[in-house]
Amino acid sequence: QETIKVGLMGLGTVGSGVYQVLNENGSEIALRASGPIEIAKILVRDMEKERAIRVPGQLFTTDPYELVNDPEIDVIVEVMGGFENTLEILLAAIERKKSVVTANKDLIAVHGHELMDKAANAGVDFLFEASVAGGIPIIRPLIHCLAGNRIEEIMGIINGTTNFILSKMTNEKVSFAAALQEAQELGYAEADPTSDVEGLDAARKIAILASLAFNSQVTFSDVTVKGISSVTDRDVMYADQLGYVVKLIARAREVDGEIEAIVRPTFVPKDHPLAAVGGAYNAVFVKGNAVGEAMFHGLGAGSLPTASAVVGDIIEAVRNIHAGVRGKVLATSYHEKPIRSEAE
Ligand code: NAP
Ligand code: HSE
Repeated sequence: QETIKVGLMGLGTVGSGVYQVLNENGSEIALRASGPIEIAKILVRDMEKERAIRVPGQLFTTDPYELVNDPEIDVIVEVMGGFENTLEILLAAIERKKSVVTANKDLIAVHGHELMDKAANAGVDFLFEASVAGGIPIIRPLIHCLAGNRIEEIMGIINGTTNFILSKMTNEKVSFAAALQEAQELGYAEADPTSDVEGLDAARKIAILASLAFNSQVTFSDVTVKGISSVTDRDVMYADQLGYVVKLIARAREVDGEIEAIVRPTFVPKDHPLAAVGGAYNAVFVKGNAVGEAMFHGLGAGSLPTASAVVGDIIEAVRNIHAGVRGKVLATSYHEKPIRSEAE
């Protein structure tokens, strides 16, 4: 079978995991993707940087358009982050008929529909499983497996960093600052951890899930957000004494034809399944009118768990290239539904 060439944008926490998984599991992946996959070029900011993994130096470039304009590259994998500039690069890649796989929730929570529409029109795939809940399959289950349901509610823990911090504060009496530093060292936090701590990352993710679940266009600014920066050791202690744990909960539901999306710290009873979700784990409940309640649980951040989702998307993109069905997988049609701006 023909080898499909991939351009990898970013070799940080997630990109290194993607490189590692594609190399270590190459033979199984080739079977599942209907042919081998090769990383042809890697975009980084600093070519001289010391890296935790060994990568042939000739793969590196600092020019994104070396990947975008390479006629041999069929799939662009964007795991570098960024917003305006990254949007421009991905739109250029789509225009040049490259399928795109990305973990960039900042971008999807605002420009997701635009990117999906452009990809569908260009006849290429735009896949973003890793953008919500790291290694947990949630985007594809919503779009495919649960597509027969009217979704009533999505609720859960969708930020690993804040769950790690709150778990450390609750179980080990570690300070907020020390727990955040550890989350950064473990590769869970965003480049600017304010996104995690202030609930913005969770807001972006619930906007993505709500858009898919309610066939609508919910963007980051539609979500009512409160993060955990004001949660104190004392709050955690009182919660414990009263039989609760503090969790950063994201919730989206449709109420009387309007969509409500909220992120906020919440007292969760200790006997609720979400109370047992510790560390960088995430858990998402989806309530559908046919399935009832389904729960998805697993690691929501970190190098290999996130790479697991990214590589799953790469395999799907490659499979679709071999099968000649690119750009036909994701339905992009949606209704305009009003958003409840100030949720109760
Ligand atoms: P990271 O560790 O900071 O890595 C970013 C990588 O991209 C680095 O290799 C960096 O190059 C490269 N890069 C950044 N800006 C660049 C630019 N303008 N030009 C060229 N290269 C550039 O970030 P990460 O944690 O892997 O996250 C990457 C993306 O995945 C983000 O969108 C993030 O939100 C998302 N994500 C992360 C996780 C997670 O657990 N970390 C989970 C899900 C999704 P250098 O190495 O040379 O600095
Ligand atoms: N910073 C994010 C988190 C990474 O902690 O959940 C995964 O999206």
